[in-house]
Amino acid sequence: LELRQLKSHNKHLGARMVFQGQHILSIDQLDREAVERILQVADLMHPYVAREKSCRILDGAVLANMFFEPSTRTRISFGTAFNLLGGHVRETVGMSTSSLAKGESLYDTAQVLSTYADVVAMRHPQAGSVSEFAAGSKIPVINGGDGPNEHPTQALLDIYTIFNELNRIQKGTENLRIAMMGDLKNGRTVHSLTQLLCVFPNVDFTFVAPNALAMPEKVLAVCDKHNHRVTITESLEDGLQGQDVIYQTRIQEERFETQREADLYRGKYRLNQSAYEQFCDPNTIIMHPLPRDSRPEANELSDDMNDNPNLAIFRQAYFGVKVRMALFALVLGVEDKLSQFEA
Ligand code: CP
Repeated sequence: LELRQLKSHNKHLGARMVFQGQHILSIDQLDREAVERILQVADLMHPYVAREKSCRILDGAVLANMFFEPSTRTRISFGTAFNLLGGHVRETVGMSTSSLAKGESLYDTAQVLSTYADVVAMRHPQAGSVSEFAAGSKIPVINGGDGPNEHPTQALLDIYTIFNELNRIQKGTENLRIAMMGDLKNGRTVHSLTQLLCVFPNVDFTFVAPNALAMPEKVLAVCDKHNHRVTITESLEDGLQGQDVIYQTRIQEERFETQREADLYRGKYRLNQSAYEQFCDPNTIIMHPLPRDSRPEANELSDDMNDNPNLAIFRQAYFGVKVRMALFALVLGVEDKLSQFEA
């Protein structure tokens, strides 16, 4: 492998699907063919994630896993994905333990890490920060969430989950009806997932949120551009009815100016087994990017749904490893050599 010879620059990953050496920063980069290629490679990762086989395709490669904002799933699954491909992981966790706290720029940090690692996964609290970092990077950078802006790898694992769940309940993937609810203003996962679903035909979106936390206009404009049907409501009951998928989200209290403001909306939309039985169509799939806020004042997705077979939240988190393995294999250009490096 000559991983260090990669040249990275942000470009649209379209019909030619040239992933090798590219950053993955935004859903804007991906067309349907690119998404389908990622999901196809994610499927190839099953035997390694299930520990049926092991793979050393990235033996000697290093991931710089830079998390400047709290994370459980994204950070650990990026690291696990890289380890399962045979690579090594080095991490920074939190702003205060990095030299960003001493005033170092993202550009300088990127220049330095480009000489230490082969690929970077990064989460940062400011919108646009991961792209700013990537501008100084000579190695591929994957966005693990930049403030309230985007979370493209979450959207990819979400869409992988949707297709798997529809297959599980033996429903076709055409004419998808999906309701997203909660903090649609600040929730980056719903921004990225909506934009990603827009590259597929016949998606019927319902956005359920208080007016103050409504889906941003720029995301609605993408739905409009692709001629998808959009329903906007503040009513939980209306939003739950007639859906294939309910995508619940947490009130993103860390994005609010004050705790008091977050408290206004926390607990406004609670989904529990009783509401599911009363309002949802049979077999409606329930998703949530997690973490769910289990505190009594929030509890947007009740524990009493844990035994509901259509609660897909833990399968969703599990699929994150496969999808992130696929992204590493693709941006490092080794996806066609997987079986050669099996043990
Ligand atoms: N879904 C998600 O991004 O979870 P973490 O914040 O735990 O990474």
